[in-house]
Amino acid sequence: MKNMEITLNNGVKMPPIGYGVFRMTDPDECEQAVVNAIQSGYRLIDTAAAYGNEEAVGRAIRRCGVKREDLFVTTKLWITDTSYEGAKRGFERSMKKLGLDYLDLYLIHQPYNDLYGAWRALEELHLAGRIRAIGVDNFTSDRLSDFIFWNKVKPAVNMVECNPFFQREPERAYMEQHDILMQAWSPLAAGQTGLFENETLLSIADSHHKSAAQVALRWLTQRGIVPVVKSANLQRMKQNLDIFDFTLTDDEMSMISKLDTGHTCFAPRNDGPSMDEFLKKSLLYKL
Ligand SMILES: NC(=O)c1ccc[n+]([C@@H]2O[C@H](COP(=O)([O-])OP(=O)(O)OC[C@H]3O[C@@H](n4cnc5c(N)ncnc54)[C@H](OP(=O)(O)O)[C@@H]3O)[C@@H](O)[C@H]2O)c1
Repeated sequence: MKNMEITLNNGVKMPPIGYGVFRMTDPDECEQAVVNAIQSGYRLIDTAAAYGNEEAVGRAIRRCGVKREDLFVTTKLWITDTSYEGAKRGFERSMKKLGLDYLDLYLIHQPYNDLYGAWRALEELHLAGRIRAIGVDNFTSDRLSDFIFWNKVKPAVNMVECNPFFQREPERAYMEQHDILMQAWSPLAAGQTGLFENETLLSIADSHHKSAAQVALRWLTQRGIVPVVKSANLQRMKQNLDIFDFTLTDDEMSMISKLDTGHTCFAPRNDGPSMDEFLKKSLLYKL
């Protein structure tokens, strides 16, 4: 996988696919899943302060048998810590839980609260060598534009929902134009909206002797996007990594492009009342 690494805008190399641990709330299961993932070949591990499993991830990193410098670890700053002082505090708390002395990628998890104060803190931690790359998460292009315009250090990454049903091609192109890597969360739409039974994906999968999940993940990597995928099952974990020995044709890419619905597979938060609810819930996380 080393020869397939992606180079971020600050020269740091990132593996072409990651393993994510959202909703893995049982500490023992999470720890074992991360050990299995690393031993299966994943090198990018994606967690977040809000997932409540950084300690389990840290334990897995220590016992997986792969050297720290061969792993790429991402965690994320939660909304309630998104300010200058909050980011410094949130970063140290995450590092303590993970048991790490440096981080590969630190993302502002949601585009809310004092983003600019938080970014100053991330810039300082980056310059001090504590974080190799800093980035953002869930930023739409208008927010990203504003952020690029007023800051000195450009985000290396923007992580957003992306899968065959929500493709975000104009946003991907905008990130490419600004040399910001797009990472995809829920690359399999979290198993919702019938992705694994989709006829288009299954017919393409058949002709490559692959699964619908592998076709969806391969389609992302062929667009220059780094998917972060979750599976608690060892066979599916391995299957999701086995996507680099085939190539989708232009016709197949264009068949998949027709599956786009143009909207999220999850509950949207694009009005006042849904944001009010989301922000209220953001206070309840035990960090
Ligand atoms: N930054 C953010 O705001 C944000 C938001 C959401 C997620 N994320 C990150 O993205 C990661 C992945 O997203 P996600 O967990 O929402 O969903 P996902 O990776 O799109 O899908 C996971 C679901 O698909 C199933 N699955 C996985 N591989 C499969 C396969 N080959 N065949 C059939 N089923 C398969 C899994 O079940 P099994 O476990 O039973 O295999 C699970 O139910 C998260 O863990 C997290 O790290 C980030």
